[in-house]
Amino acid sequence: MKEINHLTPRQIVQELDKYIIGQRDAKRNVAIALRNRIRRMMVKSDLQKDIVPNNILMIGSTGVGKTEIARRLAKVAHAPFTKVEASKFTEVGYVGRDVESMVRDLVEQSINLVKESKNEEVKEKAAENVEDILLDILIPPVKTAGFSTARTSSSNGEFDPDKASEQELNEKTRERFRDKLRNGELEDRKVEINVKQSNSMGVGMIGNGMMDDASIAGLQDMLSGMMPKKSKKRKVTIEEARKILMEEETSKLVDFDEVKEEAIFLAENNGIIFIDEVDKIAKSGKNGSGPDVSREGVQRDLLPIVEGSAVNTKYGMVHTDHVLFIAAGAFHVSKPSDLIPELQGRFPIRVELDSLTQEDFVRILREPKNALTKQYQALFEAEEVYLEYTDDSIEEIARIAFKINEEVENIGARRLHTVMSHLLNDFLFDVPDTIQANAKIMITKEMVLERLSSLIQNRDLSQYIL
Ligand SMILES: Nc1ncnc2c1ncn2[C@@H]1O[C@H](COP(=O)(O)OP(=O)(O)OP(=O)(O)O)[C@@H](O)[C@H]1O
Ligand SMILES: [Mg+2]
Repeated sequence: MKEINHLTPRQIVQELDKYIIGQRDAKRNVAIALRNRIRRMMVKSDLQKDIVPNNILMIGSTGVGKTEIARRLAKVAHAPFTKVEASKFTEVGYVGRDVESMVRDLVEQSINLVKESKNEEVKEKAAENVEDILLDILIPPVKTAGFSTARTSSSNGEFDPDKASEQELNEKTRERFRDKLRNGELEDRKVEINVKQSNSMGVGMIGNGMMDDASIAGLQDMLSGMMPKKSKKRKVTIEEARKILMEEETSKLVDFDEVKEEAIFLAENNGIIFIDEVDKIAKSGKNGSGPDVSREGVQRDLLPIVEGSAVNTKYGMVHTDHVLFIAAGAFHVSKPSDLIPELQGRFPIRVELDSLTQEDFVRILREPKNALTKQYQALFEAEEVYLEYTDDSIEEIARIAFKINEEVENIGARRLHTVMSHLLNDFLFDVPDTIQANAKIMITKEMVLERLSSLIQNRDLSQYIL
């Protein structure tokens, strides 16, 4: 996992282009930020430590792709990623404002990533072990005579034909069963296996209010580590047994200390923390006193983490100096300059995202790999119903979505979701009762108009429904 993705900025943008329409500036900047971390890793001198990421502040109204860009970026980079809403820390009743929890989340993601890749590495070996265990269960090895004696006898120079053939027979059966196992002939056969039971102890009661999450989780792990692991015999099919054993064998083969170490390295050097809704923790401009105090408090709490500090997690200390922070907000009411200066300084790169045009909507409906139109096609296809759209129907959907945004409230590309679901709802309801397998549904412009026109004409109605 230590190998870091070597995509060039151009390639990163190309990857992002597969999912996000427009927003060239934002894409270019996140791509540079990502590449800069790779560059930093390659710096040999002492300067390496001093090069800190240029955190990014994305400014753009709702539904234009801010979160989507950050999320995709993390995927492209195979980087641990976590997203928090800054405003969550100002919520009434939210005591303690545990801003460090975002770092713990990040490490958790990192652990998952590393585990996944390690599991993948040992997959074959684990499968081999599982096969042997299953064979031992199916044909218990002959303990007394068989193997051991047969082997020693040959080293003694003596030869016992009976035992030799017994062993041979045994191995033959074993191989026969191995074939059967591999062919999947035995999947439904029941076997008895020992299943280790994890005992999760609830320490919530002692922990409540006295400890932070990390210590609670740590304590929990410690306690369950101290408790003897009970194992229970269970009768399951080979198919299930294979799953259960596979998990056990995999965890035996993967060294968790190594996982922890790599995960912390990965989180520290490759992690991305996305802080959404930072505009909501900025001073609102008006001279309100109450909430502003708490907002500024949150900014002050964020400062050390963004600046670089060590955070205690249940896997160990995590330094946040090289974590990439991407903050985002609409900044309709407040401005970036309403943030406390120290925090502004931690986000030197500002990118403004463009509002989406009607043409963008058309492309968003059509082009991304995971475009909404394709998602619905896939849903219908799952029931063997084939959904098609005429070109002008897509243009019409885009036009309607755009118009509702203008007239009711601009929620960006999210509007496409509400419009599409409204358009297709009846079909989704009718499959498979009245619209059965192999049916074709053609979405035309007329159909779009017919199904949605009453809504666009009636503003009050569309406020509720779309
Ligand atoms: N430029 C775009 N290209 C493709 N899809 C987009 C684009 N912008 C938004 N979308 C789609 O709209 C949805 C909302 O986008 P996203 O979550 O990125 O909004 P946001 O900018 O983070 O808004 P908010 O400020 O409300 O958090 C996503 O599901 C995404 O698929
Ligand atoms: Mg968002």
